[in-house]
Amino acid sequence: MIEPLGDFGDDELRAELHRVAEWIASYKATIEERAIVPVVGPGDIARQFASEAPQKGASMDEVMRELDALVMPGIVHWGHPAFLGYFGSTSNGPALLGEMIAAALNVSAMTWRTSPAATELEGVVLSWIREMMALPDSFMGIVYDTASVALMHALAAAREVAGSEIRKRGLVGRADLKPFRVYASDQAHSSAEKAMIVLGLGEENVVRVRSDESFRMDVKELERAIADDVAHGFRAMAVIATVGATSTGSIDPVPEIAAVCEARELWLHVDAAYGGALAMLAERRDVMAGVELADSVVVNGHKWLFVPLDFSALYTRRPEVLRSVFALTPEYLRGDSDAEGAVDYMDYGIQLGRRFRALKAWMAIRAFGREGMEARIREHCRLAELFAGWVEEESGYSVAAPVTMAVVCFRYEPAGLDRDGCDALNERIIESVNAGGDAYLTHTTLRGRRVMRIGVGNVLTQERHLQHAWRRIRDEGERLSQS
Ligand SMILES: Cc1ncc(COP(=O)(O)O)c(C=O)c1O
Repeated sequence: MIEPLGDFGDDELRAELHRVAEWIASYKATIEERAIVPVVGPGDIARQFASEAPQKGASMDEVMRELDALVMPGIVHWGHPAFLGYFGSTSNGPALLGEMIAAALNVSAMTWRTSPAATELEGVVLSWIREMMALPDSFMGIVYDTASVALMHALAAAREVAGSEIRKRGLVGRADLKPFRVYASDQAHSSAEKAMIVLGLGEENVVRVRSDESFRMDVKELERAIADDVAHGFRAMAVIATVGATSTGSIDPVPEIAAVCEARELWLHVDAAYGGALAMLAERRDVMAGVELADSVVVNGHKWLFVPLDFSALYTRRPEVLRSVFALTPEYLRGDSDAEGAVDYMDYGIQLGRRFRALKAWMAIRAFGREGMEARIREHCRLAELFAGWVEEESGYSVAAPVTMAVVCFRYEPAGLDRDGCDALNERIIESVNAGGDAYLTHTTLRGRRVMRIGVGNVLTQERHLQHAWRRIRDEGERLSQS
């Protein structure tokens, strides 16, 4: 029982923690037996709950019963080893423990003084990741929740550099400002538009630059687009280059893009949210070539660095600009900020209260070690190559984009079916495989054509899971193409 005015008593907390530990261990032990996607429709889960907050508290027996009966039936099991959607999933034991301990500590890493250990561990973890990705020491890092939010901050800094006193005077009614433009390839993530919406710069001012046959930004096209905009009265502000694009994992030619940015004095942001992790492998360090020339670069722990959602690291070689946009200390925090020689992370972003995200990252990196992380990333790449090989060998199937990371895009085009018919067929294969509950993949559109896509990023995914998924895809492909 919870005390009338307090919390669990000591013994009860211990017992409940044991219960939850058992619950989590059983969940993890049985995850593979579960149907990956639930059979529910919108509203089915919410409908089972009372519409008003409960008047009286419930026992943990009841709460846990409701968790099992009402919540679990609506869970998509992202941690299932055959969940191959998006970039795969990264939950794992050590990071899970870190998340639990962070919840127990419940500190806020807004200033150094409010949490010296959370602040300094954030710095430690950020410097480890920076070193693993071979970024120069001169880059300062900060942890945000997501790459989308990291990009918004990077573009806020770029906006301050490109215009005058925007932090202070805003944008409205400024005859001295030209419309700002940001450039990203047609493969770059939609967070570019989101950031421009938030910053008041307009989603239309993201110029999508054509990519080449390998889905890499066409730099000549970029130069043309910038020159054209400048000639028409726009202010070119920033370029977003991607290392590991969402659909295919393609890698933009960062050194050439950096040269354009330097010549035009544009902020260069590198979105390595997914692909940055690959630079951990000595043999793949080339993926980050030129990134040292960027003004900012983001890598997501929660994509391929084995940190569960959420953890996104933004690095910038111009931290003073970021700070000049966001540092603002309200009176009530004055005594708690500006400790000499310390970082107050609240000065580098919109957020004041900040979760102790570094703890789970530290626990994962510490427990796996660099070797363990590299081995897993290498294995994911091997599995993707293997899968791509199976696809290429199968009649009617083909790989739809170069396999650069642990992502494979592929398409089924059986003889006699036109291209639109193949689009519909590929979609139906995905739906049927996913409905089976024992494998999960997603789609993307490349050059206007629907393709199937898998991403390997889960530490539990093995060759047998891919074999099974591939068997299911082929079976459904055969069945649906004959129906
Ligand atoms: C290349 C790339 N950048 C950015 C993002 C946005 O990531 P987040 O969900 O952390 O905002 C994604 C999401 O998948 C992505 O694929």
